[in-house]
Amino acid sequence: MLNKANQQQLKAVRSDRPLYHFSVPVGWLNDPNGLSFRDGKVHLFYQYYPYGPYWSYMHWGHAVSRDLTFWEDLPVALAPDMPYDAAGCFSGSAVNTDRGHALIYTGVSGELDEDGLPHGPQQQCLAFGDGITYAKSDQNPVIPSPQLPDGFLPQDFRDPKVWLEDGTYRMVVAATRPDGLGRVLAFESPDLISWERRGVLLENDGSFGTMWECPDLFMLDGTDVALVSVIAMPPGRDGIHPGNPVLAFTGAADFSLPGFTAGSIQQVDEGTDFYAPQTMVMPDGRRIMIAWMQNGFNRIAPPDQDWQGMMTYPRELSLEEGRLVQNPAREIESSWSDAVHLDDIVIEGEKELPGISGRALDLKIELRELQGALRITFAAGPASGVTLAFDPGSSCMTFDRTRAGGGSVSDALPVQSFRVPEGVRSLRILVDRNSLEVFINDGHRTFTGIFYAPNDADGIIFSADGRARLAVEKHAVTAPAV
Ligand code: FRU
Repeated sequence: MLNKANQQQLKAVRSDRPLYHFSVPVGWLNDPNGLSFRDGKVHLFYQYYPYGPYWSYMHWGHAVSRDLTFWEDLPVALAPDMPYDAAGCFSGSAVNTDRGHALIYTGVSGELDEDGLPHGPQQQCLAFGDGITYAKSDQNPVIPSPQLPDGFLPQDFRDPKVWLEDGTYRMVVAATRPDGLGRVLAFESPDLISWERRGVLLENDGSFGTMWECPDLFMLDGTDVALVSVIAMPPGRDGIHPGNPVLAFTGAADFSLPGFTAGSIQQVDEGTDFYAPQTMVMPDGRRIMIAWMQNGFNRIAPPDQDWQGMMTYPRELSLEEGRLVQNPAREIESSWSDAVHLDDIVIEGEKELPGISGRALDLKIELRELQGALRITFAAGPASGVTLAFDPGSSCMTFDRTRAGGGSVSDALPVQSFRVPEGVRSLRILVDRNSLEVFINDGHRTFTGIFYAPNDADGIIFSADGRARLAVEKHAVTAPAV
């Protein structure tokens, strides 16, 4: 056990870690897994390699939170210690059952090759626990790869998302055929142990990259929403960035066919540092989503940093006119402090605003009038600055981390631009040391971007090419006293 002095020392040493976005003290983190509510707490499991800051044999790390903002670390829940998961316990989900807290994950057998990649079959596995300790089922794998439809590849069958509906457990899971295109398969089970294959629920016709990872499916305000995380999206499709976008299909899912009649397709987040989101339902009915704030092909953290990977702040989801709307979970308000309200601020040229600075903030900006581009530079210091700009002429929003400073490896898309054709009326920006989560126009569009700037650079500079008239509301986000 760490005593208080040790804890403070650890905090001092690791103050480069985000304050209120989940991260690991040491090692590597990727996808959120097993999001669920149990014993009054939200459980967040995650893809975890505890022995170094790089992806390798995957474990399931585990943390809990009562306020969705600050998290308590728990012991690792799953380690790759069985023949069927020796190459890794890959992503999956959790449900509460009368046999305990059930984790449904992908076991990857075999070993990682010289390049650190898995080649063994991927099969769906089960573990039960009490919220702290988990034991793998003797019946694993509960969906062995021979249960795949003919022609599907056993090496790409992963990321089961399970929920209980009308007394039946339903699963969506990622799979593919030799053409490499993503399919979302549907399975059903009365008990999580024996699973019946329903077939292909949703498939990539070739328009959206190759494999689709980490599917999720849920109903929001009467409409079904399917989320998929895309590999190798080519450039050129309007409104969807190349690389690894996350897509939301809205429409109607039918498990008995199975099939999904898509109404609209939307990119979930405009930034490249957003991948593998998973959702859960809170006891009050809100649908909450957390994503890995990075993606597998876009690693920019300084190589000597002993921790890697952060989660987004939990987002509340809703649908408005067929569009997925995301806003920070309202729980953040209980960690607000030092409020500053500035009404009717005029920016002409460059300006710092009284009381508006810091690296752990919830910042709300209303754009009342805008002639020419508006730029806001965060982490502003002698050698750093990360800029978010909106140009009403081109309707383009631009995130520029070229000057992040602090030894960041910024070669992965230092500048990202996207269009906001509807214009920007308001911005809400969660700033947390190494990241910005931007909620545009009350969450109708979001952008997530990470950077690694020196921690003491906490200036915020506004600048306008012409004239901007704003209202600004700032809240510091503050950790509870240890
Ligand atoms: C997505 C992903 C999943 C897989 C996991 C392995 O980032 O590739 O498909 O289960 O990461 O860590």
